[in-house]
Amino acid sequence: MTDAARRHAALVARIREANHRYYVLDDPDMPDVEYDHLMRELEALEAAHPELVTPDSPTQRIGDVPSSRFANVSHTVPMLSLANAFTDEEVAEFVARIEKETGDADPLFSVEPKLDGLAISLRYEAGVFVRGATRGDGTTGEDVTANLRTVKSVPLRLRGDAPPVLEVRGEVVMLKAAFDRYNAGALANGQKTLANPRNGAAGSLRQLDPRITAQRPLSFFAYALGEVEGATLPPTHSQTLAWLRELGLPVSAEVGTARGLEGLLAYYRRIGERRDVLPYDIDGVVYKLDRFDQQRAMGFVSRAPRWAIAHKFPAQEASTTVESIEVNVGRTGAVTPWVLMKPVHVGGVTVTRATLHNADQVARLDVRVGDTVIVRRAGDVIPEVVRVVEGERPLDASGEPLFPAYVLPTVCPVCGSAIEREAGEVVARCSGGLFCPAQRVQALFHFAGRRTMDIEGLGERFAEALVEFGYVETVANLYTLTIDDFLEMKRSADERDGSVPATVKAGKVADKWAHNLVNAIDASRNTTLERLLFALGIPDVGESTAKTLARYFGALDPLMSADEATLREVPDVGPVVAAHIAHFFGEPHNREVIEALRAHGVHWPEGAPQRATDGPLAGKTVVLTGGLDTMTRDEAGARLEALGAKVAGSVSKKTSIVVAGEAAGSKLAKAQELGIEIWDEARLIAFLASHEADE
Ligand code: IVH
Repeated sequence: MTDAARRHAALVARIREANHRYYVLDDPDMPDVEYDHLMRELEALEAAHPELVTPDSPTQRIGDVPSSRFANVSHTVPMLSLANAFTDEEVAEFVARIEKETGDADPLFSVEPKLDGLAISLRYEAGVFVRGATRGDGTTGEDVTANLRTVKSVPLRLRGDAPPVLEVRGEVVMLKAAFDRYNAGALANGQKTLANPRNGAAGSLRQLDPRITAQRPLSFFAYALGEVEGATLPPTHSQTLAWLRELGLPVSAEVGTARGLEGLLAYYRRIGERRDVLPYDIDGVVYKLDRFDQQRAMGFVSRAPRWAIAHKFPAQEASTTVESIEVNVGRTGAVTPWVLMKPVHVGGVTVTRATLHNADQVARLDVRVGDTVIVRRAGDVIPEVVRVVEGERPLDASGEPLFPAYVLPTVCPVCGSAIEREAGEVVARCSGGLFCPAQRVQALFHFAGRRTMDIEGLGERFAEALVEFGYVETVANLYTLTIDDFLEMKRSADERDGSVPATVKAGKVADKWAHNLVNAIDASRNTTLERLLFALGIPDVGESTAKTLARYFGALDPLMSADEATLREVPDVGPVVAAHIAHFFGEPHNREVIEALRAHGVHWPEGAPQRATDGPLAGKTVVLTGGLDTMTRDEAGARLEALGAKVAGSVSKKTSIVVAGEAAGSKLAKAQELGIEIWDEARLIAFLASHEADE
């Protein structure tokens, strides 16, 4: 062997191992910079010695030229589909059938998430990836080998003792985090965004140009075998999955085994509860009889095995029709359009409202009254309109749409003030400020919240009634309300609603709630500066900025008199936030509210300013760019600040360190150009771990 061949073999082995740790085990052992370095060395070596290039070299993932169509691939072992179960009863029937026909009173099942992506088959010959195909009609699929080579978690070579022929079936998905990151990048670059991770995966894999697929962050998870030659298979499916893992193939971390109807349903519920935090979208779980001999005994019906079933979650998308389009005015005046719909069952609940987010989305979707729309409700998120069903729009006699395109109102439906949208902003706002009752209600509700002044019992309905019946104009008025005020307010609200509480019918007055509320308001007088600052509802000042401001200034007066330049000195406060804060405290009306709060006894401890002038990063300016996997950028920023760093938004000569996460773009390029120190996420984590422990 020549020196070059030896070095080539060593590089390939090391990179392959790093890939496996990173993409399959999700447990990287090499900093990104070192990986890039080794890859570049391998590329250079192969450029100088083309004879060393093999199809399974880590360099051979991209590079193919577009083809005009995909070739057909026939599946010698057909790719089957699964029967669905939607109810516990259907699962019970499935289990009973298997127990009866196998004669096994308590058979073991493999339990797995049902990944929502695209089914594919990977063919390995002598351990080398030779072909990948879509499912197609189950018998004939399309050859998407070049595209699958770009999927980093698809090993180009299997580890250990691979049989002469091994076909692995599994799902190609786009992880949720990768999807979000991809779309954020696409938005920033004015490119088309992907509708959802499933479409992202399917669309990306069916690109004729593999160079496009290579830019889409796809992942693969194995869940079954196809054709196998020259291997003695384990006797069960679960052991087969373990074997696939040993061969270096990714298998979902959520797979397991269970027995009995109760065991299966417990798995279904557990996965259902964790659905939102799983890294990929799933649409249910799959139960598979574990023993292969028992599987054979059960056999198949048409295209689906009788030994497996998919237990689906309630659909997260459903269609219904739009009855009207409304707008909502939030605490900061943000105008949110939404649709009132014919009630529809989606994601396990009945909904009648779905958000349209903003005017851009309205324009993009072109939703009109009478339209049939697809609404989506995933987990706890607000239902949203995903799209309009084409061809279902009601038309008039001449074939024109019955309803015109919707345009956002130009005046606030609540207070009549102008609705304005600043250049470059997505959000349109009512310009009425606290003159607008809608904003007053929301401001009051926010003020009373658990993370702000913590006034228990003051929910949105009471906030609304207090504003509507004129008890509260500013949050300071809360502190002069009496028990009688609340009882009177409640009477007015009941009268307006035409409802007579049972207690009133009984000739009694329920007033305990009013006592509790007055007590809660009284207790809220004793607060902290950070809670108060968050409670005031200064635009862009959330909980973490409020905390930073409270620490930085120590007291309210110096903050109130700080000018924009001073505010920009505060860690994590940029020009926009600084302007909002200065503007807020510059408004005489807001100053009056604060004076009134103080006059009514609202108080908080004040102290000396705390500014991090020491710590291991004192005097250093750090810029965070790209996505981090283990924490949000805000969290990373706060932790760096706690160690004395100033966190800035843009790279300049003054920047000391750039932390570059995944898909870091122009800021990273600029840092490289300026020769600034660059950290990857592993380096950041290591730094935080060693220095935070010191404190
Ligand atoms: S097994 C013989 N397992 O669901 C059974 N399929 O409805 C073959 N799917 O085409 C499929 N997760 O795309 C199996 N853990 C899992 C799965 C899974 C998702 C998809 C797959 C298949 C479809 C059948």
